[in-house]
Amino acid sequence: MKSPLRVAVTGAAGQIGYSLLFRIASGAMFGPDQPVILQLLEAPIEKAIKALEGVAMELDDCAFPLLKGIVQTSDASVGFKDANWCLLIGAKPRGPGMERADLLKDNGKIFIAQGQVIDAVAAADARVAVVGNPANTNCMIAASQAKRLPAERFTAMVRLDQNRAQTQLAKKTGVDLTAVQDIFIYGNHSPTMFPAFAHAKINGQSAPAVIKDDAWLQGPFCEIVGKRGAAIIAARGASSAASAANALVDHVRSLVTPGAVHSVAVKSEGRYGFDANVWAGMPVRTTTPGSYEVITGYEMDAFAQSKIAATNKELVDERAFVADMIS
Ligand code: NAD
Ligand code: LMR
Repeated sequence: MKSPLRVAVTGAAGQIGYSLLFRIASGAMFGPDQPVILQLLEAPIEKAIKALEGVAMELDDCAFPLLKGIVQTSDASVGFKDANWCLLIGAKPRGPGMERADLLKDNGKIFIAQGQVIDAVAAADARVAVVGNPANTNCMIAASQAKRLPAERFTAMVRLDQNRAQTQLAKKTGVDLTAVQDIFIYGNHSPTMFPAFAHAKINGQSAPAVIKDDAWLQGPFCEIVGKRGAAIIAARGASSAASAANALVDHVRSLVTPGAVHSVAVKSEGRYGFDANVWAGMPVRTTTPGSYEVITGYEMDAFAQSKIAATNKELVDERAFVADMIS
């Protein structure tokens, strides 16, 4: 039997947490032979702490064989203690009509504090995955506080966008979802993101050659994927939760599966035209569990370059907006 992994989850009593924790405990994230200890961190608010108690009771009531312990806390130094994975979900979500920029400063403070505590108390092999929005910039902020953990350990989630893009291409062409491969997300988890359709394959053929509708790919396809989060907020009155939790399961599962090829927001080193030191979505290949290399060499045409320039500009602007917080 493997020794348990310690998995810290912030915002554990929130809506994504409620869809996520049961899947981690059942083995969907780390595999059916990997025991876990869940370290659940909530804001020091009575309502949240009480809700967390209820979630922990339900986890107990599932009698998951892989779940070897539950920690409930509002103290980050307890929540992140010896954590192998830190899943940073807890943040204020965007409500109807709100722009993501409105969230930057409020949520930035949370990620400064958590970045410092993770660096101080998490396990030597700790990995951090950020979901709380604006996810790319929050990830950059948390990583900026780390002196012990290298920046590559901090990733932000664009997997929900990849999953959304894959489904839209399958629906458009009427193929099974699994026939769509190599659709990767570049840039920010925001409407400026770029789903690079030119490299996607449908049944092994170039997606644009199969679809034969560049106007749809450049227009409605990019728009549907980019604005899907807002469409869900408008329809549900709350931001996506089950699909976001599912995407985080995919994000981490792919990162612990050598050979997996997937979209992750990672620290830019200037590849694909992104500014150094912003966290931008791009394709990666997992090398060893928890480690990855960026896949380079995809050619970008003039349209792709203009989309990447726009999403890069947004990331650079977000970084400038919080510069006083991280300097
Ligand atoms: P929610 O409001 O239901 O839950 C958030 C939880 O975080 C709450 O229980 C709150 O008490 C807790 N929290 C707040 N500050 C905290 C702190 N400092 N430490 C620990 N916990 C804290 O929100 P949700 O729907 O679960 O969404 C969470 C975040 O995920 C939001 O920022 C949302 O915008 C984002 N999101 C990201 C993606 C993505 O693809 N990257 C997708 C969907 C949602
Ligand atoms: C999503 O993509 O569903 C979330 O990030 C919600 C949002 O605020 O856009």
